Amino acid sequence: MLVFVPPHPLIKHWVSVLRNEQTPCPIFKNAMAELGRLLIYEASRDWLPTISGEIQSPLGVASVEFIDPREPVAVVPILRAGLALAEHASSILPATKIYHLGVSRDEETLQPTVYLNKLPEKFPEGTRVLVVDPMLATGGTIVAAIDLVKERGVDNQHIKVVCAVTCPSALQKLSEKYPGLHVYAGIIDPTITDKGMIIPGLGDAGDRSYG
Ligand code: PRP
Repeated sequence: MLVFVPPHPLIKHWVSVLRNEQTPCPIFKNAMAELGRLLIYEASRDWLPTISGEIQSPLGVASVEFIDPREPVAVVPILRAGLALAEHASSILPATKIYHLGVSRDEETLQPTVYLNKLPEKFPEGTRVLVVDPMLATGGTIVAAIDLVKERGVDNQHIKVVCAVTCPSALQKLSEKYPGLHVYAGIIDPTITDKGMIIPGLGDAGDRSYG
């Protein structure tokens, strides 16, 4: 499994805004969206199939490359907080389809429950899927989401995960279950509490985004 924390000052900036307990709700949500824009941009590098050819510019013939619109790309935001992180996905990835997945984690048992599933019965052959969730803590939620995607015909090599913050427990679970998976994170924190909260983390990203 590959875990990538892009070494970009803007990513550090937006993570810092998210970490600040003084950041008010609308600014938190905007910071999450900006962080998502950068991470989705990084995750799509070397991943999007292109078509090449030649085109006439006003001053000559140029070799060109466009994103191949025939190759399906899907984004799966995990509600609620994943909605904010995926806000700019459609503007970065041409012709992306968004499939919402609602998963809530029980506060006591920390077990995930899927309450909304808008995934297709089967993804079209070759679909690349970006699963977007701000926090991977115990990893239970992201594993439930990836399993649902895989059941619908997508292999590990065609799945990437984008998160704002994660920690070793989630990464260990993911690497054991899905060799070959790529994870893009804003930051990796050292630990989680027994209530499943990442330390120092961002707090509850759903509540801080939507009040
Ligand atoms: C949070 C977070 C992840 C999940 C991570 O969601 O956004 O989806 O917990 O926890 P895990 O890795 O231990 O499973 P939450 O259940 O609080 O829902 P929300 O986004 O609606 O607030």
